[in-house]
Amino acid sequence: MTTAPGLLRIRLCFWALAALGFLFPGPCRSQGLSDRWINNARQPWLDNRGKPLDAHGAGLMEFRGVFYLYGEIKEAPTWHLGGQKWESYRVPAGGISCYGSTDLVHWKFRGVALAPVHDPSSDLDTGKVIERPKVVLNPVTGKFVMWMHVDDRTYHEARAGVAVSDRPEGPFHYLGSFRPNGAESRDLTLFQDRDGKAYLVFASENNTTLHIQPLSPDYLRPAPGFQRILIGQKREAPAVFAWAGKYYLITSLCSGWDPNAAAWAVSDRMMGTWKQQGNPCRGKDSAVTYFAQGAFVIPLPGRPGKFLFGADRWNKKDLRDSRYLWLPLDMEASGPVIRYAEHWHPFPPEIMRKTRGGQ
Ligand code: GAL
Repeated sequence: MTTAPGLLRIRLCFWALAALGFLFPGPCRSQGLSDRWINNARQPWLDNRGKPLDAHGAGLMEFRGVFYLYGEIKEAPTWHLGGQKWESYRVPAGGISCYGSTDLVHWKFRGVALAPVHDPSSDLDTGKVIERPKVVLNPVTGKFVMWMHVDDRTYHEARAGVAVSDRPEGPFHYLGSFRPNGAESRDLTLFQDRDGKAYLVFASENNTTLHIQPLSPDYLRPAPGFQRILIGQKREAPAVFAWAGKYYLITSLCSGWDPNAAAWAVSDRMMGTWKQQGNPCRGKDSAVTYFAQGAFVIPLPGRPGKFLFGADRWNKKDLRDSRYLWLPLDMEASGPVIRYAEHWHPFPPEIMRKTRGGQ
């Protein structure tokens, strides 16, 4: 096919303008369809409707070139529950939201993936706690499986809930909850290995010790056997990823909604011996994870050794106004390194053009 010189000039002009726009984003707009970056300084982040992203304690999954973000819906005013051991600021459980994106920057609201109910006998009652949803696709059943932390408002039930859906955006059908091996399960994550096995990693034993629990082939139940790791180290907010034949785990310390130092651990196998290492964060405010707490780590497709670390900046007195902090995580010789970036793009322009629909 030949291109008329006029048309060629228009096309060149278009790409030049697009590249300029990529390098120099416009001033003072909230993230959303109008921004070209993950912008940690400029919040709230807006979705395609112009509404703030409502996806706290999130999980992120890629399916057929689309990233799906699942998070806690926090819509109502925060209230304080007295006489508790844990940080006792609470917000009604709003269920789980779902957003879709091809570039991790522009997010389209895909609906409420798991709706809460008004029924005190249900785990999903608005008066309870639904936190840290994580979703993976089960290769055997073809169903999307969501695990989440469900609890009563005092955080004493400490259970892992599970739901399934035929479509990534839901609606998910809630199946019930477990205490895997009879053990308490609070902050959790879900990790799917390349061999198709999936694992729940959760804070247990009064939040002093993490457990790793293999799941059944359909991912809907705990399978026999479990592993206690980082025993007595009081770690929570787990996020697991794999790189170059090893497994990595980023966690926070337990200090309720208040930020603290993250740490990384490494193991040769999911069910192996995990060795706690140092803080992956560098520079100013690294001792408090730049005022955030981790939620997930995902590999950036097409960028070997590059990951996205997603975290929450909790506003405990007004939880619905909590913000996000998404940073690049790079695998370096010393291990995972997270550096603060006010704004950044997960994909260089050539990767965007070649593999992510050209945005
Ligand atoms: C945090 C936990 C959050 C939430 C909060 C409640 O430590 O990571 O997901 O459960 O405690 O105080």
